[in-house]
Amino acid sequence: MAKSDEGKTVSYWEASEDLLAENTLGESTETDVCIIGGGIAGLTTAYYLTKAGKRVIVIDDGLIGGGETSRTTAHLSNAIDDRIYRIEKWHGAEKARLAGESHGRAIDEIERIASEEQIDCDFRRVDGYLFEAADRSEDDLNEEFEAAHRIGLSAVEWVERAPITGYDTGEALRFPRQGQFHVLKYLSGLARAIERNGGRLFSNTRAIEWKSEEAPEVKTANNQTIRAQSIVLATNYPIMSKMFAKLPPYRTYVIGARVPKDSIEKALFWDTADPYRYVRTQPENDYDVLIVGGEDHHTGQADDGEQRFARLWQWTRERFPMAEELLYEWSGQVLETHDGLAFIGRFSSGEPNVYLITGDSGMGMTHGTIGGMLVSDLILGRENPWAEVYEPSRLATQSITEAVPEIISSTVPYVDWITGGDVSSADEIKPGEGAIISHGTTKIAAYRDEDGNLHRRSAVCAHLGCIVRFNSLEKTWDCPCHGSRYGVDGHAINTPAFTGLAELKEES
Ligand SMILES: Cc1cc2nc3c(=O)[nH]c(=O)nc-3n(C[C@H](O)[C@H](O)[C@H](O)COP(=O)(O)OP(=O)(O)OC[C@H]3O[C@@H](n4cnc5c(N)ncnc54)[C@H](O)[C@@H]3O)c2cc1C
Ligand code: FES
Repeated sequence: MAKSDEGKTVSYWEASEDLLAENTLGESTETDVCIIGGGIAGLTTAYYLTKAGKRVIVIDDGLIGGGETSRTTAHLSNAIDDRIYRIEKWHGAEKARLAGESHGRAIDEIERIASEEQIDCDFRRVDGYLFEAADRSEDDLNEEFEAAHRIGLSAVEWVERAPITGYDTGEALRFPRQGQFHVLKYLSGLARAIERNGGRLFSNTRAIEWKSEEAPEVKTANNQTIRAQSIVLATNYPIMSKMFAKLPPYRTYVIGARVPKDSIEKALFWDTADPYRYVRTQPENDYDVLIVGGEDHHTGQADDGEQRFARLWQWTRERFPMAEELLYEWSGQVLETHDGLAFIGRFSSGEPNVYLITGDSGMGMTHGTIGGMLVSDLILGRENPWAEVYEPSRLATQSITEAVPEIISSTVPYVDWITGGDVSSADEIKPGEGAIISHGTTKIAAYRDEDGNLHRRSAVCAHLGCIVRFNSLEKTWDCPCHGSRYGVDGHAINTPAFTGLAELKEES
């Protein structure tokens, strides 16, 4: 299975499309809007703003499109994955209606932009089918049907079974006019359109600070300053924010298998397991790739990625016996929210010129597109009907009983401070493996590379001090508390931690 030089898994999209070329910001500059983050949220926002005549700069720490957007499965859906009836319960009927409407509009917008900008991104309308999981069903499909109709999705209907040849799903709900596309082809097209409109995109340009008093500005790791009237944090987790308690992080797993062309109905399929499986196909020249995801867990709280892939593969073969060969395996990070809706809008009342788009959970393609529409409206001083629904300062509406497992999940790992290490000495660590070693009152994250060299860093998470754990699939150090992730050399990959794992003092 494809692996990058760093050992990380490679997604179908990364393997089939080049990420956008490198173009690092070379000097300090000034603009109307500085967008930090070049994923679907950042580029969609840049697209609308440049269309409206704003001068826009997008900067990305890595390659444009190289964040979680390159690891998605790119279902485009208004069948909210926390279920419409729960959104109704947590937010009320009107906000549930607006949420459903916003996801539908996001699909329409992706279709319209792809057509208007002539982006050849394999966009197609498909039906989505929600069916009960045979093993562990968590959702009530009757309630979902009723709630979908109450919020105006009157075309949602019962069907005898989802159209999977050879596997009887039992009764299923059909959501018409969903969508799918090749996400990196879409992002490439968006980037070209932004540049045509005068926007500027910079890769390998890391923001290390932003401030918004009097004159907003962003500082980069290369010591440049971007002065702007507005700043948009489109970094998946908003950098330099304290939102970690509202954004529980999960790892989710995906496999891609070769199947004969057109042997599977072009549709989106989801089951009701917790975590749920999500299924679609992607066309290749003379075959299709069947893409199946699921097996999520709280980041840093399991290290059995290979077993998760194996379970997905077995589940897939039982339902799709035409799956011939396993071609891809990858994982990615998803940020949930406690109440099923993303946070999109002003960073805070005290920071009126700073905006954020985060908490997209499994619906970041549409949430990112909604984010682009909503944040550009706020910057342009336009009314937006969804502003209140996605208001970042809203309080959790979930009941405390429902939220408790999540709170326990993010605080229990502090116990790692008082337990022993994984091994007693670095000699026990084999090439390609990592382990925590206890050393006096502290802990060391030690990784031995394939050449036998040992890389050692403090194991104390740079965020709030939990002890990191080794992720042997991606070869990273993952924090079990709030999902920060680090490379084996200690560099920060996923926030909330903003700096890397500390170097060790000499005597350690
Ligand atoms: C396996 C998987 C399957 C998924 N399936 C679906 C699906 O089917 N449908 C769906 O709607 N959603 C899905 N999602 C969710 C969706 O992919 C994401 O929510 C979405 O791509 C996030 O987009 P984004 O633009 O917010 O973040 P990203 O794409 O992560 O973009 C953020 C960018 O910010 C950059 N950045 C971070 N820090 C800095 C900094 N300090 N300075 C400069 N740049 C910085 C990063 O390099 C990154 O490129 C899935 C996610 C995963 C992982
Ligand atoms: S991510 Fe918060 S302590 Fe590590």
